[in-house]
Amino acid sequence: MDLKKLLDSLTLEEKIGQLTMIAPHFFLDSSKTWIAGPLAELGISEDEVFLAGSVLGIGNAEEMIEVQKRYLEKSRHKIPLIFMADIIHGYETIFPVPLALASSFNDEILFQAARVSAKEAKASGIHATFSPMVDLVRDPRWGRVVESYGEDPYMLYRFANVQVKAYQGRSIKHEGFLASCVKHFAAYGLAEGGKDYNTVDLSRLNLHQYYLKGYKGAIDAKAKLVMTSFNIFEGIPATTNQYLLKEVLRKKWKFKGTIISDYASLKETISHGTEESEYSAAVSGVKAGLNIEMATALYMKNLKDAVKNGDVSIEEIDELVMSVLKLKEESGLFENPFIGANPEKEKRLIHSKAHIEKAYNAAVESMILLKNNHRVLPIRHYQKVALIGPYTNNPKINGPWSWHGDRHVNQTLYEAFKKSFRLVYSDDSFDSNIEKLKSSDVIVMAMGESQKESGEAHSKSNIKLDEQQIAYIKRIKALTGKPIVLVLFNGRPLDLSDVVNHVDAILEAYFPGTMGSKAIAHLLSGKQNPSGKLTMSFPRSVGQVPIYYNHLNTGRPYASGGEYVSHYLDLEEKPLFPFGYGLSYSNFKYENVQLSSDKMKLNETLTISVDITNDSYVQGKEVVQLYLRDHVAKVSRPVKELINFKKIDLAPNETKKVIFEITKKDLEYYDHNLNLRVDPGKFSLFIGPNSEELIEKEFILE
Ligand code: NOJ
Repeated sequence: MDLKKLLDSLTLEEKIGQLTMIAPHFFLDSSKTWIAGPLAELGISEDEVFLAGSVLGIGNAEEMIEVQKRYLEKSRHKIPLIFMADIIHGYETIFPVPLALASSFNDEILFQAARVSAKEAKASGIHATFSPMVDLVRDPRWGRVVESYGEDPYMLYRFANVQVKAYQGRSIKHEGFLASCVKHFAAYGLAEGGKDYNTVDLSRLNLHQYYLKGYKGAIDAKAKLVMTSFNIFEGIPATTNQYLLKEVLRKKWKFKGTIISDYASLKETISHGTEESEYSAAVSGVKAGLNIEMATALYMKNLKDAVKNGDVSIEEIDELVMSVLKLKEESGLFENPFIGANPEKEKRLIHSKAHIEKAYNAAVESMILLKNNHRVLPIRHYQKVALIGPYTNNPKINGPWSWHGDRHVNQTLYEAFKKSFRLVYSDDSFDSNIEKLKSSDVIVMAMGESQKESGEAHSKSNIKLDEQQIAYIKRIKALTGKPIVLVLFNGRPLDLSDVVNHVDAILEAYFPGTMGSKAIAHLLSGKQNPSGKLTMSFPRSVGQVPIYYNHLNTGRPYASGGEYVSHYLDLEEKPLFPFGYGLSYSNFKYENVQLSSDKMKLNETLTISVDITNDSYVQGKEVVQLYLRDHVAKVSRPVKELINFKKIDLAPNETKKVIFEITKKDLEYYDHNLNLRVDPGKFSLFIGPNSEELIEKEFILE
């Protein structure tokens, strides 16, 4: 396809249309699509609707085919629409939410989750997914932490890279592959006070040092699209921010793909107070290089005049349009406007055996055993089990962004428990029969937040379990004296300080998706062995927030002791559960940590090795974590930063040697002039099972 020729054949209105994305119900009243965000009146005519170039969300393959047909019948230029949607952790076969998926610390799990999502979504006529979301998150009050991989930049980079490759494959034209849109560019996760859409204020240094890393992981994997965020950076909304979009994304990172706004974020620049009118916002969008405006029609309503007035040149418009046409071509839409959409295949793929199995594996590896006193878990086959709490019979465990996922296919915990345990009592009220509970050997309490308590626009100032649940846990423990296993469903790190000492074991399940209940039953019964680790710190109190393991040392570090150090008078310094933490039924021993040398030259590779032994009778998986500290640099560096991890599988009594290589790249950082650099001097490497229990080795960079 000669895209230049096609571009030249378009009228100005048609060109501008390509830069607009609208919801499918503008074409089809009966659309089954779900949309988050204010459904704005577009303020354009029906004919103009049929100029739009892309569609946000679609119900299924049949609906896509119908919309595309109608569109092509009406349009003069016959350029097909491109369909994009939020396929975040599964299309219909729902995987654990991203915060949980990351807890698997397993590239393959994240890869497969994206593969299954892409296959099901593509068969439903979707050509691009608004995933991965790689906002660095340090504040669990923010409802959207559930969509991120967590608080570690290295992890965001690594998993973004994995998932983009899984979505896109070698060509997004190919069956089962689609374009990936990384979001929300940039630093949306830093919303003040954890309140969604709130102000973001950070230095360029920290932007580059920490916050951009996740997006870069996606760009390095050649993500086709980038979505701008709702927040400001340096006072300017991301959607019209020339530093972010032009300097960083286009110039520094050489991004050649398509930039799309978030939902109505171009128009919201007026509320931010950086634009006086829709006209000026549209012009600023063009100046920043924004290719597609999502859900509003500022471009459609204003750019024609802007060209006429000389505020925007036709060359600028052409450049923006070209990127959209290129994306359509790469997606194969010019060869087949219905590419992907296949109602029969859609039915065959959705919930297929292979997909269900992958969702099950992901759920198993994503859950984190936070506590297991006196080895109350696994529950023995002869033990009598009671299951209580609001999640006993509740199938709503898919979590936010699972609109296509049908919760009716989910087993409830009750159904899964019947198959795995001697279930003697079950009840989801807050008034269980105490005598009956006393006749059980173990009480499992299924608690947490509802799905509606996290996700977009769902921030909270209180991150404890609700009062009724806290009181109930205490009451059941006090009245029965039985071992209590707390199973948690939630979309953020919680403050568990009120309940942690009233329960004997805690399994963090987050929102585990279609196969969640079965995975929980199998983990509690010992059929599976927990291997997830936290990717966000669990605070002791919301007063500790933001709390993250990779903080700076400060001038008066807590560890130096005494009164005048950085600490709270009324709280212990450490989080309740740190980053990287998670227990297993196996017992892993770390021994014989060896560094290839205690000196390193810049062009050399250093290796560090450790012997891990599974000192138990159960097979288990362990996440071996490697952290680094640069003791002296031009700018203050974190007390430790994750630079690598490996998940290994160990048979009972097996020992494996794990080896990591360290090169210059691992030692680099940005100085205050935003130059990447490495300085000679002292470094520490730390190896261990979580961010706190670490064995340290020092080396000198010469
Ligand atoms: C708003 C959200 O911020 C974004 O993550 C999402 O992709 C879009 N809406 C489209 O649904």
